[in-house]
Amino acid sequence: MFQTAFLDLPPLAGIKGAVRLPGSKSISNRVLLLAALCQGRTVLHDLLASDDTRVMLHALRQLGCGVALEGARTVIDGIGGRTDRPRQADLFLGNAGTAMRPLAAALAVLGGDYTLHGVPRMHERPIGDLVDALLALGCDVRYTGQPGFPPLHIGEPKLRLGAPIAVRGDVSSQFLTALLMALPLAAQTRDIAIEVAGELISKPYIAITLHLLARFGVRVERDGWRRFVIPRGAAYRSPGEIHVEADASSASYFIAAGALSACVDGQKGLKIEGVGADSIQGDIRFIEAARTMGARIDSGPNWLQVRRGAWPLKAIDLDCNHIPDAAMTLAMMALYADGPSTLRNIASWRVKETDRIAAIAAQLRKLGAQVEEGADFIRIAPPASPAAWKAAAIRTYDDHRMAMCGSLAAFNPARLPVRIEDPRCVGKTFPDYFETLLAVAEPAAAVPVICIDGPTASGKGTLAGELARRLGYHCLDSGALYRATALAATRAALALDVSCETAIAELARTLPLDFAEGRIRLAGQDVTGALRAEEIGMAASAISTLPAVRRALLALQQGFARLPGLVADGRDMGTVVFPQARLKVFLTASVAERARRRREQLLARGIESKIEDLCADLAARDARDMNRASAPLMPAEDALPLDNSGQTIEQSVAQVLAWWQARQPF
Ligand code: DC
Repeated sequence: MFQTAFLDLPPLAGIKGAVRLPGSKSISNRVLLLAALCQGRTVLHDLLASDDTRVMLHALRQLGCGVALEGARTVIDGIGGRTDRPRQADLFLGNAGTAMRPLAAALAVLGGDYTLHGVPRMHERPIGDLVDALLALGCDVRYTGQPGFPPLHIGEPKLRLGAPIAVRGDVSSQFLTALLMALPLAAQTRDIAIEVAGELISKPYIAITLHLLARFGVRVERDGWRRFVIPRGAAYRSPGEIHVEADASSASYFIAAGALSACVDGQKGLKIEGVGADSIQGDIRFIEAARTMGARIDSGPNWLQVRRGAWPLKAIDLDCNHIPDAAMTLAMMALYADGPSTLRNIASWRVKETDRIAAIAAQLRKLGAQVEEGADFIRIAPPASPAAWKAAAIRTYDDHRMAMCGSLAAFNPARLPVRIEDPRCVGKTFPDYFETLLAVAEPAAAVPVICIDGPTASGKGTLAGELARRLGYHCLDSGALYRATALAATRAALALDVSCETAIAELARTLPLDFAEGRIRLAGQDVTGALRAEEIGMAASAISTLPAVRRALLALQQGFARLPGLVADGRDMGTVVFPQARLKVFLTASVAERARRRREQLLARGIESKIEDLCADLAARDARDMNRASAPLMPAEDALPLDNSGQTIEQSVAQVLAWWQARQPF
């Protein structure tokens, strides 16, 4: 997951290959609660791992459920029938509506002494209609903050069953879902009827609820979408095992990207695994809307295949009530349409993670669209021409869907980059969204590269590593490649000079190196520590003067330039390896300062040294490096010099980030 303050997406040409998407949030949190309410064990496969499921899992543990995470399996031991369950808990539910509403209802029916609260935005999301229904039923539910909103306190109920329970259906379908999941707990002796007041929105989510209730042994009778009856004697029974489909709303971003994609893999486009057109999720009907706009979509059991069809896309005018979440993706596709598109009946957007109508309208305008918004609709006229597109920093409002939608602007025809602010908000439903997208995306232009060259011990590695961390970029420590080659050559007992130049070059070309989680592995063995040894540094210095070795490492180094960008450190990064790099920094520090730093490094490894000796060493090495025939140390012509002698690392990082920012169009 990107933990950066922002993520700059370079312009993208398209996507191809295959993606496997994480489990559906709606299904995950429903099956978690249903499994929790059962007696005995349920094994859930492919449960979504995200903020919203994490808060649910945590709450279930507090309520006395057994929870074991075993790779793709989640094992839940339910509290059904248990008299020893904890009857008191303080439950923090983040911003997860799919946890807050159903848990509130289930606990209100079960009874106890519970407090339910969340992040500030959760305390602005309505729950009054659900609480009214629960109060009418005889539950003890009190607001501890603003009336109508969480936090809630729940006590012991005095259930009054008999009259049908009325619930409003036109604010959030989650209120009805919550009642449908809670009331089987109270239906031992009589039928319980629920009547929906007002037009029921987001019906497909109710369909998921009914489908899953049936999987857990409760068959709800229904009369259209107005009246639902939980039959007398209903009781939850674990299905034993249950598979969670990939999230259809998450699939919408990849379906859209496929429809926007100028590159196709043969004739296949992008394959999406884990969800097919026969999904039980309502947002799967996004496919129909995407097809109407021009996407070409094929489907099979648990897979979809998507590629560009009509281009530009065709504008639409659509009632989106049946796909409230995925409809945001249509708003982004509208940027690429042949005229203005209107999305109607989307009032529920206003009470989601943020006011999504206002939020998306503001961001689309920044990108160059003309947007009109109403209480329950949005109309989007795309930028009039490629030149009318604007580079924008997309504000995400702590809303995962704003961030994922924002990424679709990277396919713009003007080849402008897009900045996504606070990208980590995708953690709510799809923590690795950007990694997944970038793994199948093709850049529309050269991948951004920042080069940090400079003399030995100038702090290149530290600066490069920190810049990469701040920007979410990959990092190339080119010295490590020379060191690894030297280590491999030493192990192969090769002489480290021209006599073995060809053999060492061949070793370098096929180096079985792997960089993952901050470790360096050579042929599967962790050599991170071994590469830092003084004698390996000397050996690297020797082989790095061999032109054939340098040539052999060239393609390997250039291969590190992958989306979303690269920070490369090493002597010839800006001159030879990435001459087209967008920013080149030549980092220096006085000999005295570098000697002081080197002394500290050595001391940290328990090695004593004298400053004078180190100064002499460094001066000699500088002279050798600058005068050597092969890859002499010299700044690229267009490199910006940075003397960090008197600077902290933070100051150097801030300086380079400022230079980088000055080159961005945002
Ligand atoms: O930065 P370092 O100490 O890990 O580098 C090890 C050796 O490799 C050093 O002698 C310089 C050489 N090198 C090089 O010639 N070209 C690079 N791009 C990086 C390192």
